Amino acid sequence: MKRILVIGAKGMLGRDLMGIFQASFSHDEVVGWDIEEIDIRKEDGTVAKIEGLRPEVVIHLAAYTDVDGCESDKERAFAVNADGARHVALAASKCRAKMVYLSTDYVFGGDKGEPYSESDSPRPLNVYGHSKLKGEQYVQTGVKDFLIIRTQWLYGPFGKNFVDSILRQAKEKEALSIVDDQTGSPTYTVDLAKAISALVQLDARGIFHVANSDLCTWYTFGQAILKLSGVNQMRIIPISSKELGRPAARPSYSVLNCQKLKRETGLTMRPWSEALKDYLSARRRPLG
Ligand SMILES: NC(=O)c1ccc[n+]([C@@H]2O[C@H](COP(=O)([O-])OP(=O)(O)OC[C@H]3O[C@@H](n4cnc5c(N)ncnc54)[C@H](OP(=O)(O)O)[C@@H]3O)[C@@H](O)[C@H]2O)c1
Repeated sequence: MKRILVIGAKGMLGRDLMGIFQASFSHDEVVGWDIEEIDIRKEDGTVAKIEGLRPEVVIHLAAYTDVDGCESDKERAFAVNADGARHVALAASKCRAKMVYLSTDYVFGGDKGEPYSESDSPRPLNVYGHSKLKGEQYVQTGVKDFLIIRTQWLYGPFGKNFVDSILRQAKEKEALSIVDDQTGSPTYTVDLAKAISALVQLDARGIFHVANSDLCTWYTFGQAILKLSGVNQMRIIPISSKELGRPAARPSYSVLNCQKLKRETGLTMRPWSEALKDYLSARRRPLG
């Protein structure tokens, strides 16, 4: 029997991942911790607490994920996303555990013009991306058996997300402006959690890109959300990132090439439009 520790278990991805891991590792012990149980900014407390549990696998999802918030609170971004990852890596190494670290497309600069593969050089444009990249580096140097999974544009039932935000605004407004100069692949947390579970079962190591397939802009994603939800009266206006004026710069094109996932594990990710249909129908069903 293995003991698997999930840190960030109450976040958007964490809640789906806990359910999927408890089902697919039913003969193992899956323990979920979040900020109430462990503050990863504190080195001694983090190491002692994880060492006390002695897990064989540590899945590290906890992060400061407010991309614009990171611009104004750089100290917190690096304390959680970089130093936090270093503390978890130190503990994982002391326990000789495998460490899985969730990272982001925002480690890339967006000027490649084609999907980024795992060997492309990172060039973050914002504080969040810099702090997550530093976290990746601590994991790579601190743990022998590591798996870094870069993903993007997450949405799911357990967090504030773009899909819900568009549908909420559709009830309140007649027109909606959506950014049309950032291209990526929206990824459903349920699909990602299943892929992480499969990668852990296969004992995959190194860096993997994992996202739903096909690409879109936030604007075309918004169009699809409204169309599939039967909202036809809403006017949506494509705008530029400059017009939106968010504090953090975002890459204009950060599609992840997931060929390595297929080549090395046989796993494929379905198109984002199919995943979105599933999310929308699950959303219509009452919880429970
Ligand atoms: N969301 C995306 O689009 C996206 C894209 C690419 C990669 N990722 C990565 O995927 C992972 C999961 O993302 P998510 O969207 O599920 O994140 P999330 O919903 O923000 O969940 C992160 C969890 O970590 C907790 N946390 C924050 N600071 C902590 C600390 N000091 N110690 C312990 N726990 C702490 C948070 O608690 P509080 O809520 O109380 O702060 C939250 O429960 C993250 O590593 C993120 O960087 C996300």
